[in-house]
Amino acid sequence: MFLEMSDIYCNSSFNNNVKQKQGNVHDDEAEKAHFHKIIGAFKQYRSHSLQRVSRTEQYFLSLPAHHQNLLKKFQINLHNIRECVERNSEIIKLIIKDAANMFENVPLQASQVKVTMPANMADQEKVQITLKQFVRDWSREGATERATCYQPIIREILELFPPAECSPAAVKVLVPGAGLGRLAFEIARLGYNCQGNEFSLFMLFASNFVLNKCEQTNIHTVYPWVHQYVNNLRLGHQTKGVAFPDVNPSDLPREAQFSMIAGDFLEVYTEPCSWDCVSTCFFIDCANNVVAFIETIYKILKPGGVWINLGPLYYHFADMPTENSIEPTYEELRDVISGIGFEMKKEDTNMRTTYTQNPMSMLQYEYTSVFFVCVKPACAPHGTAPAGGRR
Ligand SMILES: C[S@@+](CC[C@H](N)C(=O)[O-])C[C@H]1O[C@@H](n2cnc3c(N)ncnc32)[C@H](O)[C@@H]1O
Repeated sequence: MFLEMSDIYCNSSFNNNVKQKQGNVHDDEAEKAHFHKIIGAFKQYRSHSLQRVSRTEQYFLSLPAHHQNLLKKFQINLHNIRECVERNSEIIKLIIKDAANMFENVPLQASQVKVTMPANMADQEKVQITLKQFVRDWSREGATERATCYQPIIREILELFPPAECSPAAVKVLVPGAGLGRLAFEIARLGYNCQGNEFSLFMLFASNFVLNKCEQTNIHTVYPWVHQYVNNLRLGHQTKGVAFPDVNPSDLPREAQFSMIAGDFLEVYTEPCSWDCVSTCFFIDCANNVVAFIETIYKILKPGGVWINLGPLYYHFADMPTENSIEPTYEELRDVISGIGFEMKKEDTNMRTTYTQNPMSMLQYEYTSVFFVCVKPACAPHGTAPAGGRR
């Protein structure tokens, strides 16, 4: 994907100045097809999810009457699940309503996208992940997760570039793999010049919606756990709603510098020595080749610039038959990091973190993430020293 979408803010609306990075007809067609596919996946959410409920209901109704009688509230719960799907589907309509206006080179309305193919399971999963990401990034319920994942990064930025001692507006911070944008938003809210980067249209459409279209706190409710049919302790856990956004995204100060760029991190960021800080959260393991990510981070940092990272090594492509992947251990990655030229300044390999975890679930995933801060030496060739006088 080569879409570039610039300057979301300060007045909280995407600037529709969208350019092709490699503007030939072939790319255009591929991008249009991809755009259609993702809109199509969002549109199929409702029917796909309702079919799942119907399958369970049909089986339930085929059980002996005395079994059904023993499960008195089961069918009522299925009815509630349907209701939650309907409400999620209303949110999805709002998300895709504005998607068409985000990119100049894909001028079409979501209503023009006709869905003919059967739902793709992987894409439906991505729709569901996107719904859960609203909790992590933009709900009160996500506060604990954000405190463990985003706060260590934010604290480090404040320590390295103290607003009282430097000019935060002159400090350029990049957040690749920004998801729904909360970490980047918080960094910009502190006065830094912050840019988020994301390549998933699922995330980009949803972040456009929350960042530009939600102008009151807790104005919407999403039902993020409704697709989790297992490991539910109580009736009502699966159908619990979560209100968002917990803060008003349009409350950014007028002078705030916040932008989002759509596209593959490796393709978009090629300008050497241009960032004071790169902050990665649950991101580096999204690479086919993690070394390429680290190399790019090094290249785009100014001499003296800092890379702050927090996350596990889940290696998203590890078991995908159609994808290439290498999965170095953290021990090996440390050698790569220093081999490329970084100096490790801080390290903690015992950061207990979760990712879009349902707090009520009987199954709890926890990552023992690594957190580190490394510096590109000030004497590294090319470029200027970091802005604002890093400590
Ligand atoms: C695991 S999520 C983490 C999102 C967010 N940083 C957080 O902590 O909640 C990783 C994100 O990186 C994005 N991503 C993966 N590879 C990317 C790439 N090459 N360029 C830009 N974004 C990418 C994915 O689409 C996904 O939204």
